[in-house]
Amino acid sequence: MAMQPNVDLDAALKEAEDKYAIANPNSRAYHEIASRPIAGGVGRSALYFRPFPLAFLRGEGAYIWDVDDHRYADFMGDYTAGIFGHTHPAVRRVIVETLDGGIALNGPHRHEAPFAEALCRRFPAFEQIRFANSGTEANIWALTLARAATGRTHVMAFEGCYHGGVFNFEHGPAPVNYPIPWVLAPYNDLDGALALIDRHGNDLAAVIVEPMAGASGCIPAEREFLQALRDATREKGIVFVFDEVMTSRLGPNGYQDEVGVMPDLMTVSKHLGGGLSFGAFGGRADLMKHYDQTGEKSLPQSGTFNNNVLTMTAGLAAIEEIYTEDAARDLNARGDDLRARLNGLADKHGLPVQFTGAGSMLNIHFTAAPIRAPRDVRGTDLRKRDLFHFDMMDQDHFLARTGMIALSLPMTGTEIEGLVAAVDEFFFSRRSLLAD
Ligand SMILES: Cc1ncc(COP(=O)(O)O)c(C=O)c1O
Repeated sequence: MAMQPNVDLDAALKEAEDKYAIANPNSRAYHEIASRPIAGGVGRSALYFRPFPLAFLRGEGAYIWDVDDHRYADFMGDYTAGIFGHTHPAVRRVIVETLDGGIALNGPHRHEAPFAEALCRRFPAFEQIRFANSGTEANIWALTLARAATGRTHVMAFEGCYHGGVFNFEHGPAPVNYPIPWVLAPYNDLDGALALIDRHGNDLAAVIVEPMAGASGCIPAEREFLQALRDATREKGIVFVFDEVMTSRLGPNGYQDEVGVMPDLMTVSKHLGGGLSFGAFGGRADLMKHYDQTGEKSLPQSGTFNNNVLTMTAGLAAIEEIYTEDAARDLNARGDDLRARLNGLADKHGLPVQFTGAGSMLNIHFTAAPIRAPRDVRGTDLRKRDLFHFDMMDQDHFLARTGMIALSLPMTGTEIEGLVAAVDEFFFSRRSLLAD
């Protein structure tokens, strides 16, 4: 059904929110019930949106069904972790087969090394790795290793970057952040970052960066910026860390290979566990040797579920059978094509709107001004973003409230054409509200 044009942004948003609430009584009830035992009613803060989040029943392929029996094309893709789509048969098969052999085996087991080897083959930065359970944990370990190896305390991070629940710099350092002495540098600002490295270099154990700022709007770092960080950190003996938790999907060999800049350490998570809880970090063998327990002194790195049998087998199937290097090339080409088409629509309607990103990750922004850093989108009107979210759901497309879109492998022409049509309709029917 065509959306109604509206003269006033506040009124349009209110109308869209009311319509959403009426259409989703079971999700509302679910949120009320969940809010009793679960603080805030959601298990992950990022899943909440006003007036209440959708609750889901099940997923299959590129689609998800909510508790009010609406079917959505899933363009959220679990913030990039859901790259395989739902209930992928190869992941399912390997999980069921693995269950028969037991999942808590008390010691090293036959599934770890093949998975670790596959990750090292896939990502040039990985000479050796260690496993963890999430991207947050992987970053905790990588920064801990850098601090132990250098004997220094400080870590440089970048405005707008997100490295996990306790490493959140989206709006400056979050109060819940891990208590490291942080040096916060501007993203994609080569001179600004180099000046800070100059000033704090002797205290800096690590510089950590998302090669594309994901959560704060899919804003890629420029190659020259990353190369300058690479050179400066090498010169000062600082460990250079790429957080590729999201971006490792953006090329057959990670985003490091796309930009041609190699970090000392790299962290991964999300899709690489085949959809199960997973994290890993690794890199230069001379740094990773700190975990060698045959020597006098070694660095401990423990975690009951680090070598979780289910994750090891699902992850191996995921990268060797499903998200192969060819599949990565193909999916990212689909994303590049989609971004060009969506930006073409904004041009066609003459609207100050743009889609940023790389490969299979995109983000809508309601500004025509150039976007080089998360700070460039901080002042944009969030009412437009929220309206977009409601209107997309109204047209059976689910994506993140932040406007992030992550493609998944089962998305064929049908879903992509559906999204293009929905965005076209949104631009057409809301044009007067988006024009300035
Ligand atoms: C770049 C980046 N690093 C780290 C994390 C944290 O990963 P996890 O949620 O698995 O702890 C995320 C999560 O979205 C992320 O986007």
